[in-house]
Amino acid sequence: MVSSEELGALPDSIATDPRSGWVDPRGWFVDPEKPFEIEIGSGKGTFLIQQAGLEPGTNFLGIEWAGEFAAYGADRIRRKRETEGTYTNVRMMNHDATELLRWRFPEGIARVVHLYFSDPWPKKRHHKKRVVQHRVLYDVWRVLGEGGELRVVTDHDELWAWDEAHFDVWCGDQSNADRPSIPPLPAECAAFLEGRDRPAFERLGFDRPESAGEGELVGTNFERKFRREGRGFNAGVLRKLS
Ligand SMILES: C[S@@+](CC[C@H](N)C(=O)[O-])C[C@H]1O[C@@H](n2cnc3c(N)ncnc32)[C@H](O)[C@@H]1O
Repeated sequence: MVSSEELGALPDSIATDPRSGWVDPRGWFVDPEKPFEIEIGSGKGTFLIQQAGLEPGTNFLGIEWAGEFAAYGADRIRRKRETEGTYTNVRMMNHDATELLRWRFPEGIARVVHLYFSDPWPKKRHHKKRVVQHRVLYDVWRVLGEGGELRVVTDHDELWAWDEAHFDVWCGDQSNADRPSIPPLPAECAAFLEGRDRPAFERLGFDRPESAGEGELVGTNFERKFRREGRGFNAGVLRKLS
């Protein structure tokens, strides 16, 4: 598990100099030069650990704010390392991923941000707790490197409609009239998008990762549970346009 010492304290200067809080998470790995991928809300780490085993040339950081799940994932990694001697390319972190993206992670560091089966928060008063928000998409854009991708899968149709309404704004797509209403762009996001000569992202189809099992999209714990219940899934990718 990434320790609080590795992250370090948030400096007082953050309010006037946001970059003063930056810590490069690639330095938390044995080989910091490898391509770097982040999973937001990795639960017990099932997808991340499977994929890390198949892709030793990539470093994977799972960020999970529920302490017991983060600890469970970290312990799985520890046991894998002990029995198989590898898995030095995957680590877990117990934190709010949206806070890390906003305040702690430098720009251009990640090749992929994975977001699978994010909590739907169905009540309107809880929508602000959903991971996909304008500000988070701005931070994901910033933290991704050239051509980097946000990959999203969900079983929840209403959350997917919310996600897609946000994606339309960030992809400059005004062709979908049937999207639900979503909060307006915060001023800093509006200024960012207005200052560009093209959208921030383009939409792509979702490619299954190598670790997905037969008939699976990703192979997370929640996907397996929901699949047994016969639920359908939505998946998509946003690719960063520099
Ligand atoms: C429905 S579970 C899905 C877990 C896993 N991705 C899967 O598919 O099995 C959503 C997870 O995201 C975590 N989560 C939600 N918001 C988060 C945030 N802002 N930062 C880190 N973890 C978050 C929750 O604690 C929960 O474990």
